[in-house]
Amino acid sequence: MDVVGVDNDLRKDIHAASQWSGEQTRRDLLEHAVDYRHVDADFRDAAAMDRLFAEFGRNVQAVIHCGGAHNRAFCQANPAEAYAINVMGTNVLLETLRKHSKQGAFLYLSSMQVYGEHANGLPLMDLGRRWELLDGHPYADDGVDESMSIDATPHSMLGASQAAADLMVQEYGHSFGMNTASIRVGSIVGPCQGEHPRDDLGLNRLAECAGSGEPFVIHGYQGKQVRDPLHVADLANALWFKFQAPKPASVYNLGGGRSMACSARDAVERMQRLSGKEIELNVEEGAPAGGQAWWVTNTAKFRQEFPMWRPRYDLDALFQSLLDAKQ
Ligand SMILES: NC(=O)c1ccc[n+]([C@@H]2O[C@H](COP(=O)([O-])OP(=O)(O)OC[C@H]3O[C@@H](n4cnc5c(N)ncnc54)[C@H](O)[C@@H]3O)[C@@H](O)[C@H]2O)c1
Repeated sequence: MDVVGVDNDLRKDIHAASQWSGEQTRRDLLEHAVDYRHVDADFRDAAAMDRLFAEFGRNVQAVIHCGGAHNRAFCQANPAEAYAINVMGTNVLLETLRKHSKQGAFLYLSSMQVYGEHANGLPLMDLGRRWELLDGHPYADDGVDESMSIDATPHSMLGASQAAADLMVQEYGHSFGMNTASIRVGSIVGPCQGEHPRDDLGLNRLAECAGSGEPFVIHGYQGKQVRDPLHVADLANALWFKFQAPKPASVYNLGGGRSMACSARDAVERMQRLSGKEIELNVEEGAPAGGQAWWVTNTAKFRQEFPMWRPRYDLDALFQSLLDAKQ
């Protein structure tokens, strides 16, 4: 199977830092991935996408769209650009697939940011080291499922543009019968990753601090913010399952799930245990606008459809993979 990667390295502009360039990833893929071809193009360029898809015609089996702009500060400062990348770019890819290979799957990596402030209005209790949902809340046992509304709430420009794209992906399934999926992910973690938003767990940065001895800085929520990280290899595996059984207009929340829930404070303790190093934790006041105190994903819908899928990386294995990559 041929794999074509379309990426113009807009990443370094979106994250406003040259160390965010995807150049090394591109080189690694060209060196190690079998049958990989890289196309340095902007996916908003309809003519360029048309020429590319025309080369393969009806043989395009899937578009896996991972090109969302998801830097909150960038989207807030550049709403038109955020809209152009997240909404118009997604539309170009959908239209081009529809024209050339309508039966192909369109898997869009959406975001839990589509839930906007609904995710922040959840009633939380302070468990000392972590925020947790109040006992008895419908999402308390297993996390947030797809029933949470995405409507009538502030989102930030990032969340609003991703919600618009997420709905359009669904609509190509409803209106045209295309095999589309909006896969809403939260905290994806892998060893090649750059820094994360500062209110997130920042696990790669934490692994770096274990090696360098620098203090680990986290912003807001008294360092008790909770996420359920999913290793990027487990995400890739989930996409592989979905690729093999696509259907129109499917929507999933995907993350590590309840067993992977972890606060920033818990993460520091775990990283210390695994690395054998002391890590100084500095909690700075002031969570970034649109940040989240608590997010755990209910993955029941995805697991019900794909019972063979489950995260292979538990928290220890995920943390260890980050430590190993820093050595
Ligand atoms: N990483 C996470 O934890 C996380 C969380 C929520 C959602 N997501 C979603 O998952 C997807 C992948 O996230 P990521 O962390 O790998 O993001 P990323 O920023 O690392 O990767 C996006 C890639 O898309 C490319 N790109 C952006 N606009 C482009 C354009 N117009 N033309 C060509 N290439 C373009 C960038 O250069 C970059 O390499 C995104 O859609 C994001 O919204 C990720």
